[in-house]
Amino acid sequence: MTSFTDERVENYLYAMLPQRDPVLQEMERQAKERDIPIVGPAVGRLFYQYAKLIKAKTIFEMGSAIGYSTIWWAKAAGEGGKVHYTDGSRKNADEARRYFTQAGVADRIEIHTGDALELLSERKEQFDVLFCDVDKHDYPRVFNMAAARVRPGGLFVTDNTLWSGRVAYAAGNPDLPKPEPDKKTEGVVELNRLLYSSPDWFTTIIPLRDGVSVAMRL
Ligand SMILES: C[S@@+](CC[C@H](N)C(=O)[O-])C[C@H]1O[C@@H](n2cnc3c(N)ncnc32)[C@H](O)[C@@H]1O
Repeated sequence: MTSFTDERVENYLYAMLPQRDPVLQEMERQAKERDIPIVGPAVGRLFYQYAKLIKAKTIFEMGSAIGYSTIWWAKAAGEGGKVHYTDGSRKNADEARRYFTQAGVADRIEIHTGDALELLSERKEQFDVLFCDVDKHDYPRVFNMAAARVRPGGLFVTDNTLWSGRVAYAAGNPDLPKPEPDKKTEGVVELNRLLYSSPDWFTTIIPLRDGVSVAMRL
């Protein structure tokens, strides 16, 4: 868990979550054992809720790993929905494919391997949801592609936008020690600045787990 909030509050939040289905539970176990950075169940539920709220049917996910967040999106999209899984690793994609079959959602997921930014740039359509979870230094580049790929009223969702709290230090708060600059933190800080200053998006950062930004396309 990538948490910077009070541990007791965090434990309370997670203890209340209802049981997930056996496939998601197995993926959570695998992620913990093998140190795979998945969004986890609290954020998974948030994705499900937002996708349901806007009746999302088409979702493009950038950075899918073993497909944990993909399954939450696919469950929300429901029958007839289409979720695009993307990851640079073929091994991850093979593992994800097995979980999709076990979870009964393989029919609505299209698996793509390669660079997620290139894969997105090959698409011509607009999606209901674009979810970004790639390497953090690329976040501003993804932002620049997002407005064209999300329909008005759709969502651009990004994980890790509080980056274990490092964004607050890096953003120049004079009361906090200035950290060494690093490309990942700079990428996240720049994305957050762009999201809040752009006339194309209405943004909220939700301080759940490592921070999730939800931006609605205006
Ligand atoms: C944080 S993990 C994704 C976790 C997943 N979203 C979940 O919550 O279940 C990030 C994944 O994105 C992949 N990745 C990072 N940058 C990428 C890129 N530019 N193109 C494709 N995959 C990328 C990494 O290999 C890794 O598997």
